Amino acid sequence: MGGNATLGFAHGALGLATLKISRMSTRRFLIAGNWKMNIPPIGSFAPESPYRPHPSVDVWVFPTFLDLPGGRNHTLIVGAQCGRPEKEGAFTGDVSMQMLADQHYYAVLCGHSERRRYHGETDEDVARQAKAALDAGLHPIVCVGETLEEREQGKEKDVVKRQIADLPSGIIIAYEPVWAIGTGKTAQPTDAQSMHAFIRGLLPEGDRATTRILYGGSMNAANAEALLSQPDVDGGLIGGASLKPEEFRKIVETAARLIRLRD
Ligand code: 13P
Repeated sequence: MGGNATLGFAHGALGLATLKISRMSTRRFLIAGNWKMNIPPIGSFAPESPYRPHPSVDVWVFPTFLDLPGGRNHTLIVGAQCGRPEKEGAFTGDVSMQMLADQHYYAVLCGHSERRRYHGETDEDVARQAKAALDAGLHPIVCVGETLEEREQGKEKDVVKRQIADLPSGIIIAYEPVWAIGTGKTAQPTDAQSMHAFIRGLLPEGDRATTRILYGGSMNAANAEALLSQPDVDGGLIGGASLKPEEFRKIVETAARLIRLRD
């Protein structure tokens, strides 16, 4: 389903006839808005909405379960903020990965730090979710990242290594340092690059060139260029700034401009 749509955009944007092999041929920028427990920003589903698919940048949004149908029906690329690995059963309040796929949703977040914190999701749970999402045909974005305390103790790489250890191939990873989420504090671009390169180096060799690693944590229109310019940063998972349509539009435009500069 959606996989073809992405491929279609990619072909159009890259002009495959030129046979130009660039970094972007395998890792298109993905700018994803995580709307968390908020209603969709005004105008989200309008024709000129910045949340619509873009010709050269992947743009996805993650509304609440209640707003998923609205987004899908207005042809936005939408995903769920979480999903349960079991296909069905006695799991009050949950929605399964399979149910999301059956309703033609495209993607799902797994292991966001707020799910780990408020719902007790463990690394093992997150790995099971990611595998179930892939089996169902969804694109999982798996979130990893250390807390402030862990960083202050110099353990950030150990934590992230543990978080990605059992993840399957074929996922998208979002590095979201917990101390940067919703705080206005962003990782220095060089620190983000260092962690992204570290994560990439831990992936099986066959996945390194193709796996997209997004940065998340107070990304906004002012810092997007510095972050997205880092060679191992393949996009952003954006919370607060994704609720402001014009701010989000600028981030998407920044990604589109950086592709042109790279080409
Ligand atoms: P903020 O952009 O609000 O820091 O949130 C990041 C995030 O949690 C995205 O999933």
